Amino acid sequence: MERYIVGITGASGSAYALALIDALLARGARVHAVLTGMGEQVLRYECGLGFDEWARGRENLQTEDDRDLFSPIASGSFPVSGMAVAPCSVSTLGRIAAGVADDLLARAADVSLAQRRPLVLMIRETPLSAVHLQNMLTLCRAGAVILPACPGFYHRPQTVGELTGFMAGKVLDCLGLKNECYPHWKGVRE
Ligand SMILES: Cc1cc2nc3c(=O)[nH]c(=O)nc-3n(C[C@H](O)[C@H](O)[C@H](O)COP(=O)(O)O)c2cc1C
Repeated sequence: MERYIVGITGASGSAYALALIDALLARGARVHAVLTGMGEQVLRYECGLGFDEWARGRENLQTEDDRDLFSPIASGSFPVSGMAVAPCSVSTLGRIAAGVADDLLARAADVSLAQRRPLVLMIRETPLSAVHLQNMLTLCRAGAVILPACPGFYHRPQTVGELTGFMAGKVLDCLGLKNECYPHWKGVRE
């Protein structure tokens, strides 16, 4: 069974994480979700429910404790196919870029880079400072995919779900996973 880690930070856009996790579960993958403290708080604020409540009944979804560095996902010897941080705050971006791995989310990201495993960072902040851009460049050079939370509009979305689905699909694309989360561009002949 494919296994993925989804990190959720306190950047705005928690709904992206929920769409991504559901897309991974729908393809039969096992998902380890790890939320920072602010990730939990912002999700509750933006989505109107706690992550544990949302996760209830979703088989193959395991919530990890961000303080638990004894977790299997803290180790490179634990097999996972890839990791995404969605949404990723500029704070967590900075910690990963600096190699600070003192919570489970940052440690798992650090391990992904060291093991040359796919790591997708869905950054959500605007505008961006030189510090943010420098940290993104550092991580891009280290092998991460920087995927700004910038949904396109060329598929003419009518609902928020179509926007979050677009970003979930982009993450799956970056992980090399075929998906129909959004209509992939096939060109226009008019
Ligand atoms: C409602 C709300 C929205 C926020 N949105 C963002 C955001 O879009 N991007 C960001 O980098 N930080 C955002 N923040 C600030 C982060 O939550 C804050 O920097 C926090 O320390 C991030 O910690 P974490 O990376 O450990 O989750 C937001 C905070 C709140 C309360």
